[in-house]
Amino acid sequence: MSEVIALAADHGGFELKNKLAEKLKSLGYEALDLGVNTPDSVDYPDMAAKLAHAIKDGKASRGILCCGTGIGISIAANRYDFIRAALIHDAFGARLCREHNNANVIVFGGRTIGIEVAYECLEIFLKTQFAGDRHQRRVEKLSHME
Ligand code: RB5
Repeated sequence: MSEVIALAADHGGFELKNKLAEKLKSLGYEALDLGVNTPDSVDYPDMAAKLAHAIKDGKASRGILCCGTGIGISIAANRYDFIRAALIHDAFGARLCREHNNANVIVFGGRTIGIEVAYECLEIFLKTQFAGDRHQRRVEKLSHME
């Protein structure tokens, strides 16, 4: 069975989100599209919440979020202690967010990233394993911030 990856976006990121959903399928993943699919204005925290709940409920193992810059929706997603959302701009970040941070959500800005860069970053994110070891202790601390 193929891994299920959830996607959600606001109006600033939905076009990119739709392209990434197609890319996911071409790579053999199952895409769980949580919307939105129109340019009508919505609030990015609501879309981050939808994706967080899909992961919490076991409907998807990892996720992709897009808003205009990727900033607001990543801030929102990281309010959940089981989400490690990484706003990514390049291949190096895409690799390190998995190896060092065990990121379970990749975030893009629909108004800031080129589509080929986004495709490359997504593939790296999907295929790179968490390195564990010293990074395990650090990642565990993220879920217990005082
Ligand atoms: C919506 O206009 C925009 O603020 C949103 O997509 C995002 O960029 C917020 O961080």
